[in-house]
Amino acid sequence: MESGERIFEPDYLDKEDTSETGLRPRNFGEYVGQKKILDNVKVMVESALIREQAMDHLLLSGPPGLGKTSLAMIIAHELGVQLHVVSGPAIEKKGDLAAILTGLEPRDLLFIDEIHRMHVSVEEILYSAMEDFRLDIVIGQGAAARTMKIDLAPFTLVGATTRSGLLSNPLRDRFMGDLHFDFYEPVDLAQILATNSKKLKLTVTDQALETMSKCARGTPRIANRILRRVRDFAVVGRQEEIGQNEVTKALELMEIDANGLDRMDRKILSVILDYYKGGPVGIEALSATLGEDRQTIEEVYEPYLLKEGFLLRTPRGREISQRSRDFLVGQTSLKFT
Ligand SMILES: Nc1ncnc2c1ncn2[C@@H]1O[C@H](COP(=O)(O)OP(=O)(O)OP(=O)(O)O)[C@@H](O)[C@H]1O
Ligand SMILES: [Mg+2]
Repeated sequence: MESGERIFEPDYLDKEDTSETGLRPRNFGEYVGQKKILDNVKVMVESALIREQAMDHLLLSGPPGLGKTSLAMIIAHELGVQLHVVSGPAIEKKGDLAAILTGLEPRDLLFIDEIHRMHVSVEEILYSAMEDFRLDIVIGQGAAARTMKIDLAPFTLVGATTRSGLLSNPLRDRFMGDLHFDFYEPVDLAQILATNSKKLKLTVTDQALETMSKCARGTPRIANRILRRVRDFAVVGRQEEIGQNEVTKALELMEIDANGLDRMDRKILSVILDYYKGGPVGIEALSATLGEDRQTIEEVYEPYLLKEGFLLRTPRGREISQRSRDFLVGQTSLKFT
């Protein structure tokens, strides 16, 4: 969300990516994979329902596009409470957060996205709010300063972060659970793709589903993006069934290779190979050479490269693996451009 926009608007999620809203899972049953997380969440939800109290605060962490926002929406739905969504860095002043918190009804769910990027002064408001459902606000300065206490409705905070390591300790300690999202297995992605093909009224061959699921970087959002691109080919070609051919064309256009790596992934690997002799190289140097923001490299690209063993993280920096070397050799056309 751009600063300047209203922080607190119910249709923020629709604005996030309009094309995404129709494909979001709506309840636990539609939410594929992440079994451990679901098991945890279901117990928390059920317990809250039985106790007739607000659910405990929960932190969701993991790379982008793995279903954190979707899960928060489902939790609110299953609890039968209202969901309020804000983006952490967009809350600029304490007063803004205070206004949001005082506007919550009992048991409402407040979802703060990118919670690790919240301003420190704003974050401090959350401590007493989360712990005691109370706002401690200091009015005035110096000797005349007074603390005002405002009671809040008991609410649930669900925080999402791509980097739980960057959360301050006082904030992290106030969450009951910290659930970490892993990349999805191809079988799970194939199931998501099959469901979403139906939602988009597409007929897709099993082979096409399998290829898409293997090239989606373990990420449902990317799987959906590929599916929509594939659909474009089918629509333009006036085809009734989507097969391997359409998938291959879409993947080529999206510059996604058989390993599921995209242009930037390959660029990162080939820069390390060509400029730094395979590494190790520090993240700052790498970010400068790539002309890419350090945070983006760390949060968006690295996790998958590390998970798949293309990249290694050592105390001296990033190194590429033998798997990367084998894969980059002979791919001169894909070299750093
Ligand atoms: N478990 C799942 N089952 C089915 N579809 C899913 C699942 N997880 C995610 N998706 C699909 O992927 C899309 C992206 O998920 P979502 O927006 O929840 O990710 P996110 O973790 O919040 O990402 P970001 O960190 O970028 O905000 C959703 O719109 C949904 O269609
Ligand atoms: Mg999200």
